[in-house]
Amino acid sequence: MPGTILVGSQWGDEGKGKATDLLADKMDVVVRYQGGNNAGHTVIVEGRTFKLHLVPSGILYPHVTPVIGDGMVVDPGTLLAELAALDAQGIATGKLLISANAHLIMPWHKELDKLTERWLGRQRIGTTGRGIGPTYADKVGRLGIRVQDLLDPGILAKKVEAVLRERNPLLAKVYNRLPLDAEAIVEEYATYAEALRPRIADTSLYVWNALREGKQVLFEGAQATLLDVDHGTYPFVTSSSPVAGGALSGAGVGPGWIERVMGIAKAYVTRVGAGPFPTEAAEDEAEALRAAGDEFGTTTGRPRRCGWLDTVGLRYAARVNGLTELFVTKLDVLSRLERIPVAVAYRVHGEVTEDWPMTQTEIHHAEPVYEQFEGWREDISGVTRLEDLPRAARVYVDAVEKLGGVPVTAVGVGPGREQTLLRGIGEE
Ligand code: GDP
Ligand code: IMO
Ligand code: MG
Repeated sequence: MPGTILVGSQWGDEGKGKATDLLADKMDVVVRYQGGNNAGHTVIVEGRTFKLHLVPSGILYPHVTPVIGDGMVVDPGTLLAELAALDAQGIATGKLLISANAHLIMPWHKELDKLTERWLGRQRIGTTGRGIGPTYADKVGRLGIRVQDLLDPGILAKKVEAVLRERNPLLAKVYNRLPLDAEAIVEEYATYAEALRPRIADTSLYVWNALREGKQVLFEGAQATLLDVDHGTYPFVTSSSPVAGGALSGAGVGPGWIERVMGIAKAYVTRVGAGPFPTEAAEDEAEALRAAGDEFGTTTGRPRRCGWLDTVGLRYAARVNGLTELFVTKLDVLSRLERIPVAVAYRVHGEVTEDWPMTQTEIHHAEPVYEQFEGWREDISGVTRLEDLPRAARVYVDAVEKLGGVPVTAVGVGPGREQTLLRGIGEE
């Protein structure tokens, strides 16, 4: 079975871009299956930095076919700008395919994303403002506009006009904004249609054929388990299904093709935007982690909230994704700490639990039960073999494996492609 799903096991930014890039060497196809340009995946190769938002991270290898899958939401102007930037960096982008079923982010989605956040005030989600939520809402509400609609100007115009008949009064009467001009939008999107037309494909069929030929296919998750619309800390989530199950519906493949489900977890935890975060560190400790880990959003530049590894969340991610292995990133960031707290359980309303709480209220009230691990003083960013890590760092990795209940097969000690320590399952 040649399918591998790669999924974030925390609140995003675990290093999925780097992990995808690492695995893509041996892949034929890399598929993004959900989300849009709310994602920011950083890949650093030989000192050059690439920040990918819509384009799968596999694009950096000329032998890989990158695919924007059915479950994604696409802002076509942003996509073209991202492709142009990659071209300018000397990266060949000609192979990229876009699903005809993916939904388009339209101008009203971006506007409504920002307006809703403003209207929510203190209860806002802290979205990336890219129009993600409103686009998925329209998809499920059957008012969405899809990539395939770009192929038929008549249909596109009809759909835009129909949606704006409902949206313009909303913008004007509820939000006191100017109405949007259907004709101008159709004209703008017609230019995108011309540029994207050759890439639009039945990507589910393409991926199926690749799998049947025994080609290796990687499904690159964006966002993460705890941001999943069904399984995350709702309503402080994104509007898609980053979990492994989402890869199947989002790419249009059956479960029988999947062999590996790799979870990506930082050696600590970060979160951007609002919502519960039981192991969030006190500000001075968070500040130290933020500085050491350069924890600022790839997409919005916002400082990320920082805290300690939460193995309650990790075990939950292992369960809902069916993780078969774990890539622990950014271990180097913990160097020089005296002691490293790791949450092994939560205390909720006086009761200790090792399981993810059932309700959002319980998650809000969860107090982590910490076990303290010994730190190490050495800089580990140049280490190339797991056995050469300081003893305390090895103890830490072993503890993550044991507490998470998933074999750790890779450990990141720096942002570079080569700064990764690999370990076969079951061996040191
Ligand atoms: P993604 O959204 O999951 O792809 O993660 P981001 O790219 O948003 O954020 C992860 C950041 O950590 C990026 O800047 C990576 O270059 C960096 N990174 C990834 N792995 C490691 C690691 O093992 N050590 C360090 N120091 N940085 C890493
Ligand atoms: P990658 O793929 C971290 C967060 C936002 C906000 C919530 C909803 O780089 O890990 P949205 O714009 O999706 O409606 O925002 O989700 N969020 C992310 N946080 N990494 C991401 O992507 C994220 N994508 C969305 O900050 O809290
Ligand atoms: Mg990111």
